[in-house]
Formats: sequence, structure tokens, C-alpha cells
Amino acid sequence: MQLSAWTSDLAAAGADCLTIFIDHDSNLVSEHIEAIKSQFSPDKALGILGGAANSSLEIPAKDDAHAKSILLWRLPSSNTESHKWREFSSKLAARLASLKAESTTVDLSGLMNKTGEIDIAEELALALGQAVYRYEEFKSKKKPARQINKIFFASTEDSSKSIERGEFIAQGINLCRDLGNKPGNACTPTYLADLALEMQNLGIKSSILEEKEMRELGMGSLLSVSAGSEEPAKLILMEYHGASDSTKPHALVGKGITFDTGGISLKPGAAMDEMKFDMCGAASVFGTVHAVAKMKLPINLIAVIAAAENMPSGKATKPGDVVTSMSGQTIEVLNTDAEGRLVLCDALSYVARYEPETIIDIATLTGACVIALGSHASGLYANDEQLASDILDSSSKTGDKAWRMPLWPEYDKQLDSNFADMANIGGREAGSVTAACFLARFTKGQKWAHLDIAGTAWKSGKAKGATGRPVRLLTDYLISRV
Ligand code: BES
Ligand code: MN
Ligand code: ZN
Repeated sequence: MQLSAWTSDLAAAGADCLTIFIDHDSNLVSEHIEAIKSQFSPDKALGILGGAANSSLEIPAKDDAHAKSILLWRLPSSNTESHKWREFSSKLAARLASLKAESTTVDLSGLMNKTGEIDIAEELALALGQAVYRYEEFKSKKKPARQINKIFFASTEDSSKSIERGEFIAQGINLCRDLGNKPGNACTPTYLADLALEMQNLGIKSSILEEKEMRELGMGSLLSVSAGSEEPAKLILMEYHGASDSTKPHALVGKGITFDTGGISLKPGAAMDEMKFDMCGAASVFGTVHAVAKMKLPINLIAVIAAAENMPSGKATKPGDVVTSMSGQTIEVLNTDAEGRLVLCDALSYVARYEPETIIDIATLTGACVIALGSHASGLYANDEQLASDILDSSSKTGDKAWRMPLWPEYDKQLDSNFADMANIGGREAGSVTAACFLARFTKGQKWAHLDIAGTAWKSGKAKGATGRPVRLLTDYLISRV
């Protein structure tokens, strides 16, 4: 699918289909409908279309018209809130993606100044990029590609920058989805490390720390997770330089458990396949880095991914084992299924050497977060008010929802251990909060936020698959740092 800005005459685009918006509260027949000479009278067409927001009607054009069909689309009212314009964009994108036409012109004139803080060209480009997404890597029979291959965004204003931005963000989201959907036997720590090296062709500097180097750095906590697996752990580093060397980087840290069996604290069998998604935090970091590099944002960014597989075996870490983290703090591993925090704490200690401006870690960390917030919002924790409010701003701007959760000392106390500096679990109550409190112990003195995406990163059931969240939130956060 190829999107382009079109600033001249609608007819000159020469598309098969012409998409025309009809205002919410008016039946003003645009001159274009007359121009295209529909087989329907405009009055009849509008009658069938009806008045409901986002209703649509595709009608054939007369033989001598410049397009073969017209897609009429009823707009939401012009004082509509942002989320309604996002809904409009995704519905329209889905409809456009399913059109038989090979090309269409979308008449955006008149729409651009109606949508408030939403850049409608960017929003539509983003929605289209996602609407055509499919994951068919391991299907032997792939569905034929979608018909539509060219979409012209027509308006007097040149929308090419917005289109490009929307496409780059969609690519990042789709990369995140691809990685999440990839099965655990293909998406290993080594696969993720190789991908990071491949991303160097986007101007990113990548390097990989192997288990030997991690051992030398004292990352006993991270290594205790990969101990039971045949797959070696990898600490993956990606550096993007878009600003001067003296500009402090922003840091993203991703949980990359490529499969989480629970280890010796083995998970029950039901839906265990979904633990291939336990690297979605890492996937969102890859997607965001990809988008940032494509957009050539004038910022510096450092990404750290803690990649490991959590397996039971004769070499696996056992409940009660005590491990020493890179920070020197000791951890009693009371439950080997609370492994995300064990890999993240060492990655968080490591990233401090880059003296980042802010650190955000992203992790499918706790089932408890799914109980607390369901699949609608990611759990947001932060030790810095400004950082929290910046992330929440991006969240409400993009509709990629996040909800602030507390890091109070009462919760932190639940991590006390009789045998080490802390335990890796804090009991049954407030499981998402105590997991975040654990991470907070490794980010003292840093501006740090944590996103628990256990409920938002993928869907279960019939629509099972990675969502690409929170790439949009993270990209917007970084765009807003410029
Ligand atoms: N990856 C899981 C969290 C998870 C579970 C995400 C289900 C989405 C759906 C994490 O490693 C884990 O197993 N957490 C445990 C922590 C517990 C042992 C304190 C959990 O949530 O049950
Ligand atoms: Mn686990
Ligand atoms: Zn996990």
C-alpha cells in the first residue's frame, strides 16, 4: 500500500474510487458528487447513507466519470473528542483496506481543521498501516494481498510529512506485533540479538553482551533466569544518535522473556502458549527504536533489552536460592515465575552508566496488573512527577491508555526477606505494585518510570495476537521531548 499527498485536482489523481466526507449535520451535496456523475441522484445516495457517524456507502459512478466508484462517508460531529476521531480513522481505514478498488482518493479538504489536536492525515496513515497488518509467517497458504495499493490524501495543504510520520509509527507498531506473534522456538534471545544487529542499517549502533560478560559485570540476577535454559541470555543494546553528544539520552528498557514457563515454579498448562508474548516489552522497544530512527528524531536514545528464556531443568534456579544482582543487592528467589523483575533489575543497573535523562522500562510483568486494570490500560509507575505527567500526556493524546499506580513504602515492605536484602515476590496482595517496588529499588537517583503491559500487549481468545502497544505511547513521549 502506497500513501501519498495530493494537492492538485481530485480528478487528476486518476484513482478508481473517490472517498468523500459528508458533514455530520448537513446534507450539503459536495460539488464533487455531481462532478463524478454517480448513477444515483445525490439525494437518493444521501438518503441511503443516513445520518449516523461513520456510516458509509459505496456507489458506482457513470461510465464517463473519472472514477469508477464513490465512497460516501458520514463524518462525526465537528466538536467530537479526540477518541472519536481515532475511532473514525480506524473504521475508515478498515473500510478502505477492504475496498475492491485498486486506488482511491480521500478528500481531506475541509476535514483537517475540524479534528482538534488530532492530525487527521497522520492518524489515517497510522490506522491504514495497522489495518492491513497480518501475521502469516508460518501459514503455508498465505491469503492474497489486499486489493488497494494506492491512496491519495487530497487537500490544499501538503500532508506528506504527516503521512510519513503515521506510516513510520505504524511500521514500529507492526514490527512490535510481528515479534510478539513469533513463536518461542523462533523468537529466541539470539534471534532478538541478531535483529538488533540488523537494525544497524537504520543508523543504530547495536552491541550484545553475552552471558560471560554479564557474569563479569555481576549480573547474577539476570543469569539466574536463563540458568535452566539451553538458550543463552543476551543483553541487547541499541544506541540511536539524533542529537549532539552532549545531549543526555532517554532510555528504554524492555523485558524480553522469549518464553516464560515459570521455571521450577512451573505455570499451569492452560494458555501457557501465551507466554511467548512475555517479550512484548522488548518488542515495543524494538518498534519504538525503529520508528524513532525512521523519523530521524533529533534526540539521543538508548535501548536495553534483557532477553532470556525461563525454563525448568537440573540447572534451573530453585525457590529459596539467593542471587546477587549487579547492584550488589541480594535477592531471595521465592518464586522462579517472578523472573521479569530479576532480568530487569540488572538491565536497569546497567543503563545507569549512560547517565540517561529518563528511563522507562516496559514489561509484561504481572498477572496482577491484568486483574487490576484489565486489558484497557497499562499500569504506570514512576518515581518522578514530571516524567509521570509527560507519559500520561502522551497517553491521553494517543489513546494508548496508561493509569498511574502507587509506589508507597507500605507496599515496598512486603518485599522484606529473612535471608537476603529482599525477596522477589511480595505476597498475594497488590502484586503489580510490589513488582514495581522491586524495580524501584534498582533505580534510586534516576528519573524512572515502569509500564506494566501484561494486560495490554496482546489479546487472547479468537483475536489472539500482539497489539503493538505501547509503541504509540512511547513514540509520542519521545517526539514530545524534541
Ligand atoms: N510473565 C508473567 C506475567 C503475566 C502473567 C503476564 C499472565 C500476563 C499474563 C510473569 O513473569 C509472572 O509469571 N508473574 C507472576 C508473579 C508472581 C509469581 C508473583 C504472576 O503474575 O503470577
Ligand atoms: Mn513468570
Ligand atoms: Zn514473565
